[in-house]
Amino acid sequence: MTVKTVGVIGCGLMGHGIAQVAAVSGHEVTVLEADSGALEKGLGRIKKSLAKLVSKEKLSQGDADASFGRIKGTGNLEDLKDCDLVVEAIVENLDVKNDLFGKLGKLCKPSTIFASNTSSFSIGAMGTASGRPGNMVGLHFFNPVQLMKLVEVVRADETTDESFAAAKAFGEACGKVPVSAKDSPGFVVNRLLVPYLAEAVRMVERGDATPADVDAGMTLGCGHPMGPFTLLDYVGLDTTLFILEGWASEHPNENLFEVPALLRQKVDEGKLGRKTGEGFFKWEGDKRA
Ligand code: CAA
Ligand code: NAD
Repeated sequence: MTVKTVGVIGCGLMGHGIAQVAAVSGHEVTVLEADSGALEKGLGRIKKSLAKLVSKEKLSQGDADASFGRIKGTGNLEDLKDCDLVVEAIVENLDVKNDLFGKLGKLCKPSTIFASNTSSFSIGAMGTASGRPGNMVGLHFFNPVQLMKLVEVVRADETTDESFAAAKAFGEACGKVPVSAKDSPGFVVNRLLVPYLAEAVRMVERGDATPADVDAGMTLGCGHPMGPFTLLDYVGLDTTLFILEGWASEHPNENLFEVPALLRQKVDEGKLGRKTGEGFFKWEGDKRA
């Protein structure tokens, strides 16, 4: 099956980027948002990102306009019922995701492939919730979707070969390099990345170093484009907390998944990172202040 029409659910940090790369690669895209303000903001970010790509001569003005024209925003789940593929990019909460896939399973045409952009949760669980486990895959894009070249394509036990192949082909059509991953916590990248981020927070909690010095260590010493604290702010401290909390409750004896108190404290204070203007650092729009 070749995917032509795509539904994206959530138009936040990830959803807007997924909608954009899908539209630029020629797909008709319907983006569903629960919050009309977030939809407007997400569509604005897509416009800005397309303009940036035009200014850098990575895209012609005509292609940017045509791509934006292929994206339709909605607040109505019904509008996704005929999509070939639906990619979910809502809050990192398994109950909320399962509830959504339950509704999609009752609504969408039988051939619709269901994909989750989850950072950490079980694709198999969402497949079961949808009532169509064969159609369920993980399509894990990376932030910022417009620039990061990877997509993890995750197959659960019941994912069919057809669904997996179609999802992988969609990722490639979006200009990404797919890697196949098993349905295990964090797949490939986050299983390594998230414990590293958590350990950076513990390092600061212990008073071993400041966030700025840890970041300097990893950028200047290891060549990472961002240090762990800038990356935490970039990803969202809430999202990282939800990932760790989910794993900690499922694997209580795994020290690597322990939730650092400082991370929880920042989230409780509403300091979620770039998206709220402050996390471990202060932000002005998309740049560190
Ligand atoms: N669309 C279009 N252009 C964009 C853009 C976007 N969304 N975001 C940035 N750009 C442009 C910038 O405008 C800039 O253009 P100019 O050179 O003309 O100014 C250019 O790309 C480079 O950006 P920056 O100057 O802001 O900074 P940079 O050189 O550091 O590059 C970066 C930005 C590519 C994000 C780089 O810092 C990087 O690779 N950071 C690490 C990101 C990372 O690790 N992502 C994975 C997060 S984990 C995850 O996603 C999984 C999960 O489940 C949590
Ligand atoms: P975000 O908070 O920026 O955006 C989520 C959006 O979903 C919000 O705008 C919210 O209004 C909307 N939403 C929530 N429930 C909804 C519903 N039922 N229907 C429609 N819209 C709904 O979050 P994000 O950072 O884009 O993360 C989204 C998903 O992508 C999460 O599963 C996260 O783990 C994963 N992810 C995040 C990153 C990252 O770096 N932030 C990277 C890869 C994957």
